[in-house]
Amino acid sequence: MPLTLPAGDPAAIEAAAHRLAAGGLVGMPTETVYGLAADAGNASAVRAIFEAKGRPSDHPLIVHIPPAEGGDWRAAVAPFVREVPDFAWPLMRAFWPGPLTLILPRRPEVAAVAAGGQDSVGIRCPSHPVTQALLRAARAHGVMGVAAPSANRFGRVSPTTAAHVAGEFADLSGERLLILDGGACPVGIESTIVDCSRGSPVLLRPGMITPQRIEAACGQPLRARDEAAPRASGTLESHYAPRAKVRLMSGPQLQAALDVLGVDARAVAVYARTALKAARGVQLRRMPEGADQAAQELFAVLRELDETGVRLIWVETPPDGADWDGVRDRLQRAAA
Ligand code: TXA
Ligand code: MG
Repeated sequence: MPLTLPAGDPAAIEAAAHRLAAGGLVGMPTETVYGLAADAGNASAVRAIFEAKGRPSDHPLIVHIPPAEGGDWRAAVAPFVREVPDFAWPLMRAFWPGPLTLILPRRPEVAAVAAGGQDSVGIRCPSHPVTQALLRAARAHGVMGVAAPSANRFGRVSPTTAAHVAGEFADLSGERLLILDGGACPVGIESTIVDCSRGSPVLLRPGMITPQRIEAACGQPLRARDEAAPRASGTLESHYAPRAKVRLMSGPQLQAALDVLGVDARAVAVYARTALKAARGVQLRRMPEGADQAAQELFAVLRELDETGVRLIWVETPPDGADWDGVRDRLQRAAA
């Protein structure tokens, strides 16, 4: 089993920073989801991430950086980024530190393996105090940035607690993986990703920072992704998948399906905002009314329902509206 240490203990942060500097792997809490972290500048450490996840090595990782003194974003991104288009600065000022990843032109001499061979690099400055403490401590040991995909096996549900990470990588020893337990992630789904390497902003992955807020901050329309966008695992049609089959339905469709359910009731779990009636044995779980709360618990609920051994998870399609885009996107991929 991996070794889990409480993130509130400064010695644990220091131990994790040491691991990163020595080329090891760390389960790192962030405000979005837990990451599987390694020194972005250490090619063999980064390869160990791909290997542990079972992720194709041409799928680029996000590099996490600490905020620079006095909000100097130019200095903060300088170690990894060759140039920054004008529209990206206001995005950093508005949303960093926080759940936004910017794809920027990469310095060719750094983080090539982490970037999966792209000439760009995904950069994020997280807001979680534990992540920031770890990134600062690692910097003191010479680690300029920390590459971290979500800490799950390729294609599976992202982890939002330390226990989820330990479960995903139960076969790794405490020597191979140290997990910092920073509690449940407050945002709950992965960062919004905006590609800033192609002249105008392109949305690669929806998240809790909505297109409207991004357009308002940078004063430019946000384009939708197209075929020219690099392959991104979080954007594969099927991703975030539990073992059980996930199906999205409207409230009335759900009720109709529950009404005709027979002896197989125990094989089904339901996650819905609508109040529904179901036969005994069906697990009914209420989805929160607010998008923020729904996002925060989404992956934990999918895991919990999956672990009860059901074969089907029926989920009510989230409402229209940009604040639900991130949750809707993750559910559609879980159902694909
Ligand atoms: O919230 C998050 O972003 C979490 C936490 C740990 O920070 N990380 C995360 O990483 O979700 P991951 O690897 O599961 O998803 C990163 C996404 C992938 O879809 C990847 O392809 C895309 O970012 N990405 C990273 N660098 C890129 C690049 N240079 N060009 C295009 N896409 C990139
Ligand atoms: Mg992921």
